Formats: sequence, C-alpha cells, structure tokens
Amino acid sequence: MKRIAIFASGAGTNAENIIRWFNTEEDRGGRVALVVSNKPDAQVLRRAGALGVATEVVTSAELKDEDFVGGMMDSYGIDVVVLAGFLLMVPPYLITRYDGRMVNIHPSLLPKYGGKGMYGMRVHEAVVAAGERETGITVHLVSERYDEGRILFQATTEICGDDAPEDVARKVQELEQLYFPRVIAELMEGMW
Ligand code: GAR
Repeated sequence: MKRIAIFASGAGTNAENIIRWFNTEEDRGGRVALVVSNKPDAQVLRRAGALGVATEVVTSAELKDEDFVGGMMDSYGIDVVVLAGFLLMVPPYLITRYDGRMVNIHPSLLPKYGGKGMYGMRVHEAVVAAGERETGITVHLVSERYDEGRILFQATTEICGDDAPEDVARKVQELEQLYFPRVIAELMEGMW
C-alpha cells in the first residue's frame, strides 16, 4: 500500500475528498499518511486533523531545505505526492526525488489558463472573461516548469452564457471531486 502526502495551502476540499476516498477499509492501493501546508491557519489542516491524518506546516524557507523536507518525507514513508491547491513553487530536489510520482491538479484545460499567478478563482474569472464555452480540470505530473508536466487526465464541463466565475468554479469542483482520487489511484497502479 503506497503512502500519499498531500500538499495544500487553502480550503482543502480536494484533500478531504482524497482522504475520504483512500482512507477506508477497502484497499484502494494507497493511504493518505500526511497533509503538508505552508499556511498554519489553512482550513485544510483542520479537515485533515478531523479525519485523523497527520499534518505538518512548512515555511517557504523550510521547503527549500532538502535535508529538512527529505527527513520529513522519510519519517512518514511517503511514496507519492499530490499537490492540491499548493501555492508555493515546489523546489527541484523534491520534483526529482518524486519523479513520475508527484501530481498536480489545475482547474482549467491546460495549456489554457495555466502558468504563474493562475490559481483558483483567477482561472475561472479569466475563462469567463474570454467567453469560453467549456473548461475543465487537468491532472498532470509535476515538472520544473509551471503547469507543464505530462498530462495524465483531463475532463471538461460546459459553460452557459450567463455563468459567473462562481458557477464555473462549482462545476470544476464537481469534476475534481469525481475524478482526482481515481486518477491518483490509476497512477499508483502503474508504479513499481
Ligand atoms: C482547486 O480548484 C485546484 O484545482 C486549484 O486550487 C483549488 C484548491 O481548492 N489549484 C490551482 O489553481 C493550481 N494552480 P481546495 O483547497 O478546496 O482543494
């Protein structure tokens, strides 16, 4: 059974969903062993704690410290890293260490509406402002270039003429809840 760490900075709706999906009696190939946040007051930490998952807070300076983070990941025996709304840049040593075993979710159909500064509502606002007729989610491997790692999965949803960014956010969140844990499970199935 592989051990998953989720890195998240915000509300943690994805983290909670992934924990609920994997941490059951049923063997789904992995368990969430750790949730890491750079924000001590992030809601994701409370959600994880309430579900009995260990949490750690790392500062941006600590994140750059290979020995510190490497030691933390080893102490929890982490095999796979999931980025779910994690707003700090992941340092190269960590990407190398989890090469092919670190995934990110982005709330648009990459390569559209990706890149630096594009996260959360900003993405949905840009999508609506551009008059797009559809949007969706992208799950991709993490590489050193922002939002450019190999795409593992995409799902789309329609945008109606009068949809506000909040409506688009809700539709995208439904896709995230439905697909993200399953894509992680599929990735792990193909691993060693
Ligand atoms: C999610 O919609 C995720 O796709 C997005 O942040 C949100 C986190 O929500 N990620 C990005 O925008 C990455 N560039 P959550 O904390 O409720 O899971």
